This record gives sequence, structure tokens and C-alpha cells, in this order.
Amino acid sequence: MAFDQEIERRRTFAIISHPDAGKTTLTEKLLLFGGAIQLAGEVKARGDRRRARSDWMKVEQERGISVASSVMTFDYEGHTFNLLDTPGHEDFSEDTYRTLSAVDSAVMVLDAAKGIETQTRKLFEVCRLRDMPIATFINKMDREARDPFDLIDEVEQKLALDVTPASWPIGMGRDFLGCYDLLNDQLVLFDRGKGDVLTESIQCSGLDDPKLEELLPDHALEKLKTDIEMVRALCKPFDIEAYLEGHLTPVFFGSAINNFGVRELLAAIGKNAPSPRPGKALERSVTPTEDAMSGFVFKIQANMDPKHRDRIAFLRIVSGRFRKGIKAKHVRSGKIMAIHNAQLFLAQDREVAEEAFAGDIIGIPNHGNLRIGDTLTEGELIRYTGVPSFAPEILQKVRSEDPMKAKHLGRALEQLAEEGAARVFKPNLGSDWVVGVVGPLQFDVLADRIRTEYQLPVKFEATTLMTAEWVDGDPREVKKFVDANRASMAVDHAGAPVYLARNNWHLDKAKEDYPTLRFLKTKEEV
Ligand code: G4P
Repeated sequence: MAFDQEIERRRTFAIISHPDAGKTTLTEKLLLFGGAIQLAGEVKARGDRRRARSDWMKVEQERGISVASSVMTFDYEGHTFNLLDTPGHEDFSEDTYRTLSAVDSAVMVLDAAKGIETQTRKLFEVCRLRDMPIATFINKMDREARDPFDLIDEVEQKLALDVTPASWPIGMGRDFLGCYDLLNDQLVLFDRGKGDVLTESIQCSGLDDPKLEELLPDHALEKLKTDIEMVRALCKPFDIEAYLEGHLTPVFFGSAINNFGVRELLAAIGKNAPSPRPGKALERSVTPTEDAMSGFVFKIQANMDPKHRDRIAFLRIVSGRFRKGIKAKHVRSGKIMAIHNAQLFLAQDREVAEEAFAGDIIGIPNHGNLRIGDTLTEGELIRYTGVPSFAPEILQKVRSEDPMKAKHLGRALEQLAEEGAARVFKPNLGSDWVVGVVGPLQFDVLADRIRTEYQLPVKFEATTLMTAEWVDGDPREVKKFVDANRASMAVDHAGAPVYLARNNWHLDKAKEDYPTLRFLKTKEEV
């Protein structure tokens, strides 16, 4: 296949949702179409394997939340889909935000009984900042749901987004019969409990097709016709430009657990969602079909397999073609890296990447030289922007329960900091470390990971610190500030000076006394 076509057929997307709306279930069903899982029997086997794979993270099981995001690549009907999984819990949104910087479109999953929830809204705002096209999947129609008009109205009002139904539900809950696919004029009948097979749809020539009278009870058909008349009067028709600009969302109704409506959603992503979009570098915009391979690291995951202490940098390829053994420049260090052992995350398995294209995600095993936000390029030096960094909002002290192992703790914390799991500061005085996170649950996850991955029991303790700010400016002035505030200074994992302020008064005073210095809540990753 020609180079341009390879790129054109790629669809790199993520699912955003509030916990429990059905993201995991939908992901599994999407993989069914990708051929990763086919038979009903295999689904269970895969479930067991999956549990085994995530066993290492006890927190995930104990709290029933998914904390590690991953990538799944699969082919369906001529397209290559890269689905990036995002952790659902709000405490892990840092990771989610970074993942969203690596996709070209998103699917927003809503629970039909709940509509827009807090986390849906937050994630939507991130997508909006990037003008990202969003398709909406209203899930759980097999249960009692809110009125579909209500739901689309809520999406329109709360998200200030034009809405166009791509399918329309016929009944709901016990009386859910199926959907009318408005984009393709076909009836898709609901077959309860057939979640592991692919449902067939029935082609119709519009709503007056006599087939519909045979297949649907009179009252249901009547209601469908009136509903659709209203839909056509109230909603804008599907307009691909408006969708691609992020102003209009097509809405699909379905039931992920019954694998209903999933095929239509996937087909629509294949047909309408954008192929890899140009990348923004500080220097210029980069077109995916440019010859030179380039990309950026949006995620680091350490210890994916506790038996092999590996660390994988996830690289979103922005342009060109990756080949095994390719030599790319690591822009931050200026060094050349030969990449021989990158991995592709095929839904079935991980596999050594021989070749990959703009839009794809590859995993590069490394020993800590790749960091979040780094650019790799075969061509001229460019630096990609847009991988967000977050201000640590809660600061706690951490200490090893075994004082003999304090050094090990330091190493573990540095690794976790490089992975982007937390901000880690080493105060100039004293032996404790200070860890900054965005959400309090992150402390539990960190404690658990340090215990299981590094065999170190640790304790987190509250501090009276209000904020940690990076100090930047003329090196002599920075040194003067550091010397004058020794007791409040720390360094981050890369050795950059950080001011640990007890309260606003101290921070304001510091800013007043050193007007030429900059106090930064986040450190640019690039
Ligand atoms: P999440 O990743 O967004 O958090 O949601 P997940 O897929 O885990 O789904 C949350 C719950 O909703 C699960 O039930 C799941 O089975 C259920 N669910 C998902 N899709 C549908 C649907 O179309 N219809 C109905 N009725 N339920 C759906 P659970 O009881 O929390 O877990 P489980 O024991 O069933 O796995």
C-alpha cells in the first residue's frame, strides 16, 4: 500500500467517559470487531488473562478502577484503529490529558440514565481546547434510560455543541427493540444477550419501507416515525466539516454489553473521523505525510511486567514512516538513537515493530533517557508542544519505613517522577522527600507501587506546605535566592530548583524581593 494511503487509513482515538458509563465494555466490544477476540468462549479466557496481566497493580483491583492506560491497535474494514485507553478515575486525569494530546478524535460514552457527568465534562473541555472531533455513544439503552430527546438536549446545552443523532432508539429498557440507523437508512434489531456475536443490520429504503411494518410492532413504528420527524425538524443534519472542527457531535444509541450499536459507531469512526492530523512543533506545523519520521513521547510506563523491570516510552508518530533500526535524533539531548526494539500494541499481543506510520503509537523500551514531552526526529530539529504538565496541588512527605532503605526510596521516587506519575522534590535540608500530586488517591497508588515494584514499605504524611514552584531566571539571581532560602528549597528529579512555600504570604514576599525571577507552577516538559 502506498505511503500516503497507509497514513490516510489510520484512526487514532480515545474514549472519554465518567467512571461506570461503560468505557471498558465498549473497548472490549470494539476489539471483537478487530478480530482480537472472536468466539464467545475466548472472551472469558481473555478476561482471565487480562486480570492476570493487571494483577501487579493491586490498587486497581481493590478499588475497582483502571489506572494504567494502554494502546490497542486493530484493523477493521480497511482501517487501522489505534485506541488509546485512558484511566477513568479523576485522580489520574494527568495521564488522561496527556493521552488526549496523542489522539486525533474521541468517543464520548454516556450512561443513558445519567447523561453528562462531572468527569465527562472535564474531559470534554480538554478535547474542546484541541478542537477535537467527538462522536457520542449513549450506552445502556437496554436499561431504563432518560428520554432520548432530553439526553441530546443536555449534550447540546451543557457542552454548547451541535448534536445530530446518527441512530435513533426504538424503546428502552425491557422494551428496547433496536435502533434506526439514520446515516445508512437501516434497521438494527436488538437481540438481548448476544454480546459476543456480531449483529446483522437490515437495509431499508427509508422509514416507509414495508419491511419495517413486518419487523416492528405498530405502536413502536408509529413512535419511531414521529420521533424521527421531530429529530429532523430539531437537529442539524450531519455535517462532516462541523464534526471535524469539533462543533458537532453525531450521537449513537446502543448497549455496549450487548454489543449493540458498536458496529455502527466503529464504521462511522472509520468513515468520518480524521486521519492523522498535522503536529504542532515550536518551529512549524508538521504534515503527517512528510518523509522524515518524527514523534513525541506522551507517556512513560515503568514496570509493566514486574518480572522484567522495563520502562516503555509511548511515542506518537506525527510524521513519516518508522522502520525497525531507524536512527532518530533525541532533540533534548542532541543524541542519535537507533531504535531496534520498539513495540506495537496489537490488540492480541505486543509485537516488535518492523514498521509503523504517522498516527501509530510505538512503545520504546529505554532506561530513563526518554521523558514525557521529548521529541524524536529523523529530520531537522523540531520540538513538539502540547503535552500538558500539571501543577502539583497536594504535597506530602514520604519516608521509608526501613531507614536503611532510604536510598532505594530515592531511586524509586525518581523513576516514578520521570514516568510522570507524581512530582518528586528532595528538600535541601532533612532526609524526607516531598511528593506532589493532583488528586489524593494518587498517594495510595504510589505507596502501593513502591511497595510492590520496589519492595519498599513507605508512609506518606501530611505537610504544612502550600505549594511547590519552580524557580527560573538568571542563574546568579537564582543562586542568591536559593542561598537565602535554604530551608524552603528543594530540587526536582532533574535537579531543577524548587521553592516549597508554606503559605501565600511567603510566596508573595519571595516574588516581591526577587522581581526578576519567575516562579512557575509547572515545569515545561519540552
Ligand atoms: P467504565 O469502564 O466506564 O468504568 O465502565 P464498565 O465498562 O466497567 O461498565 C460499568 C458497568 O456497567 C459494568 O457493570 C458493566 O457490565 C455495565 N455495563 C456496560 N455496558 C452496559 C450496557 O450496555 N448495559 C448494561 N445494562 N450494563 C452495562 P458492573 O456490574 O459494574 O460490572 P460487571 O460485574 O458487570 O463487570
